[in-house]
Amino acid sequence: MPEKRLIVGAPDCFDRGVLISRVAALRAEEEERYRRSNPKSQSLARDGRQGFYAGVPMHWMLDWPLPFPLVVADAIGATLRDVDGRTLADFCLGDTGSMFGHSPEPIARAIEEHARQGFSYMLPSAKGLQVGDLLAARFGLPYWQVATTASDANRFALRLARAVTGRAKILIMNGCYHGAVDETYVALMDGHTVNKPGLIGQFEDLTQSTVVIEFNDLPSLERALRTHTIACVITEPVLTNCAMVLPDPDYHAQLRALTRETGTLLLIDETHTISSGPGGYTKRYGLQPDLFVLGKPIAGGLAASVWGFSDDVAAGWDRIRREKAAGHSGIGTTLSANALAMHAIYTTLNELMTDAAYRHMETCAERLARGLESSIVRHQVPWHVARVGARVEFVCERGPLKNGSEAYRAHAPLLEQAIHLALLNRGCLIAPFHNMMLTCQATTVSQVDLLIDSFDEVVSLLVGSAN
Ligand SMILES: Cc1ncc(COP(=O)(O)O)c(C=O)c1O
Repeated sequence: MPEKRLIVGAPDCFDRGVLISRVAALRAEEEERYRRSNPKSQSLARDGRQGFYAGVPMHWMLDWPLPFPLVVADAIGATLRDVDGRTLADFCLGDTGSMFGHSPEPIARAIEEHARQGFSYMLPSAKGLQVGDLLAARFGLPYWQVATTASDANRFALRLARAVTGRAKILIMNGCYHGAVDETYVALMDGHTVNKPGLIGQFEDLTQSTVVIEFNDLPSLERALRTHTIACVITEPVLTNCAMVLPDPDYHAQLRALTRETGTLLLIDETHTISSGPGGYTKRYGLQPDLFVLGKPIAGGLAASVWGFSDDVAAGWDRIRREKAAGHSGIGTTLSANALAMHAIYTTLNELMTDAAYRHMETCAERLARGLESSIVRHQVPWHVARVGARVEFVCERGPLKNGSEAYRAHAPLLEQAIHLALLNRGCLIAPFHNMMLTCQATTVSQVDLLIDSFDEVVSLLVGSAN
């Protein structure tokens, strides 16, 4: 069958194998259905406008493809209940913050145990001190620090990398996201490095501090590293914040060899790819980073992150601490490593991030990926599915994708938004900014099948095979 592609200038046209008019029609129908089904959310969302800027406590809560935010009543395991009493199979899981399920029992218990022991005293607790050894044993790096968010941990790790190497620049992969980390906000546009256009209040020219190349592009990597000006390469092992991009088979080995050869540190950000297994992608595939960051789910849904580093980096930090002037180091924040967070990290490592849990998560994710793939094949749309452990993504373009530019071009915002909303109306919540779905210990096979069936129904509506 000939591929259906965009036919510009036609009265109606195909994009990604789907008629644009059908996308618009589906979106309109699903918006109407959403409004009808969520009257309480609608009225609460409107009432909330009095106090919050833009009506929500965090502006990105408006970025879901919904006419108004869905207001949550509660969330347990892999199920979320909204204030209108509808239950949703949750495959967003707080965009990984709740990757081990909502309110997992061990964390609820840890919070109760800790409730009267004090939360924040700027000193270590006995339980908290055990976490260092647990992290070292699990992820293989000898030294660790704790922060409050993955963004903070990345900022601190990059600062340390610059200090230890005495080099000012960092290198990132086009299409990456590492959180609210200023120096990572550049992109490749028509072959040039540019500050990301959506930034607000950006006065510093980030292209002076950051080199950006495409993922999987070894010649560009080598060229950049051989300038011997790069302190650190920061990357996810698999790009998960554009459409999912998997590494070429030899990519990580070459990346490690080139960084070592040029005295460049390698920071692996496992915040999303921890979906790969209890030791992350790093353990599963034998990566050897100098610095390692893990945020989001590490405290079972509470705010915490951890970052680890090698003996050599620690020796560099020792030297700097001996030599530096007194005063702020730039690595801090008061609530980091608070006693409640430490108790939650301890519990997450011991009771949630287990082999058994990951086996279940991966089985569900595999089933989901296979189900979506067969639907794509059956409806003959030029899309594909990518997966890294318990993280699955459907991409409305042929795959696999090779780099961030391809991932950028693969996005089809209007089509994806219509699908998200239609899935939500059928009882399935997926991550809002791309087509990412996560499974957790509490995910059931029937939830997975509901998502597969809903996806199939939505695609058949889009291609017209439902009529
Ligand atoms: C790979 C990666 N690193 C870091 C972050 C930042 O996490 P946080 O927003 O919790 O600081 C994100 C957020 O999506 C991420 O995807």
